[in-house]
Amino acid sequence: MARHIVVAITGGIAAYKSAELVSRLKKAGCEVRVIMTENACQFITPLTLETLSGYPVVTEMFSAKSHHEVEHISWAKWADSVIIAPATANIIGKIASGIADDFLSTFIMATKATVVIAPAMNDQMYANPILQRNLALLADLGYRVLEADYGHLACGTSGKGRMPEAESLADYMLNLSEPDLTGLKIMVTAGPTREAVDPVRYLTNHSSGKMGYAIAKRAAARGAEVLLISGAKGLTVPWGVKVQYIDSAEEMYQAVAENFDAQNVVIKAAAVADYRPKECAPEKIKKQDGAWALELERTKDILAALGEQKNGQILVGFAAETENVAQNAQKKLQKKNADLIIANNLRQEGGVFGKDTNQVTIYNRNGQIKELPVLSKEAVADEILNQVKILLKN
Ligand code: CTP
Repeated sequence: MARHIVVAITGGIAAYKSAELVSRLKKAGCEVRVIMTENACQFITPLTLETLSGYPVVTEMFSAKSHHEVEHISWAKWADSVIIAPATANIIGKIASGIADDFLSTFIMATKATVVIAPAMNDQMYANPILQRNLALLADLGYRVLEADYGHLACGTSGKGRMPEAESLADYMLNLSEPDLTGLKIMVTAGPTREAVDPVRYLTNHSSGKMGYAIAKRAAARGAEVLLISGAKGLTVPWGVKVQYIDSAEEMYQAVAENFDAQNVVIKAAAVADYRPKECAPEKIKKQDGAWALELERTKDILAALGEQKNGQILVGFAAETENVAQNAQKKLQKKNADLIIANNLRQEGGVFGKDTNQVTIYNRNGQIKELPVLSKEAVADEILNQVKILLKN
């Protein structure tokens, strides 16, 4: 059955982006209904949204088209999920205070659907402590509050307050899941590290970071508070995920160690360099005739260090293998004191760097749990998170 999504538009200049949001959700096969506040109609016409959604747009409490149903209640039951985009300070304040004085606010009060709030406003309004208090309260109550973007604002300034682009909002809605990981703090590492040789060269590997980003995305979609330590640059940071970029294995270690105590779960999807140049030359190394040998030294094994320090955290490592997958995965599990090892067989089809799919086998302390078929990296992420959930329960 097609997913039922209500897109609610309030009075902000970003309302124009909501037309694209509706269009993208429709194209993805969702049934979409639109609610607009009176002020929203100053920015974009209901006719546009009616045409895009293929359903009458509700703009007023008492303009109900059906005489047989209480409209805000029937819409509340119909919706699987709701996104208020843009959400003004006014609607956020009203929901946080329990005010229900128009169609949208009564509908929100009545619905059991997951409600996503995408605030958009001037940067000073966004920074206002009353608004921030309201957003924190709503997040506590289970509303999915998205962070505003930085950038150019309609009022002519630049700052934090922009509504995210329609593409990422649509992606977020299509990936929305039951919040079964709410209350958990999960740190994920992703991508390659770069070990500098001189100011222009470095040693790295083929990791794209896509697996780590998929884990971060699914964990956030399932309600976890996610911190992503990323060696990959330029991938879209999933909604709700905090990111800290690093270059070298040492920087990754520092970032991970600093945040380790606060986490419930750490998932180390990153492909960390095992060696780095013993010295990084201060100036560009000039070429000479003949061969050149570069002296390398070991980096810290971050997963093993966490395994020694762990204090109740669930620790998940990856194993990139080209042979003896099961044996090597088991060895890494023991040696690094991890709770799960996700083994990638690099020789198998589907398990190749940079792809959107992966083929893994999951091992726990008692042996192999699951050999998965080739799946999207997001589906693999969900399987890993399901196993983490089982370990947390025990
Ligand atoms: N890892 C790490 N720090 C390192 C090397 C690896 O934290 N310096 C982590 C990886 O993030 C991964 C796991 O350890 O979760 C296994 O990484 P992998 O490259 O498969 O194995 P290595 O430990 O490097 O062992 P080997 O090179 O012998 O396969």
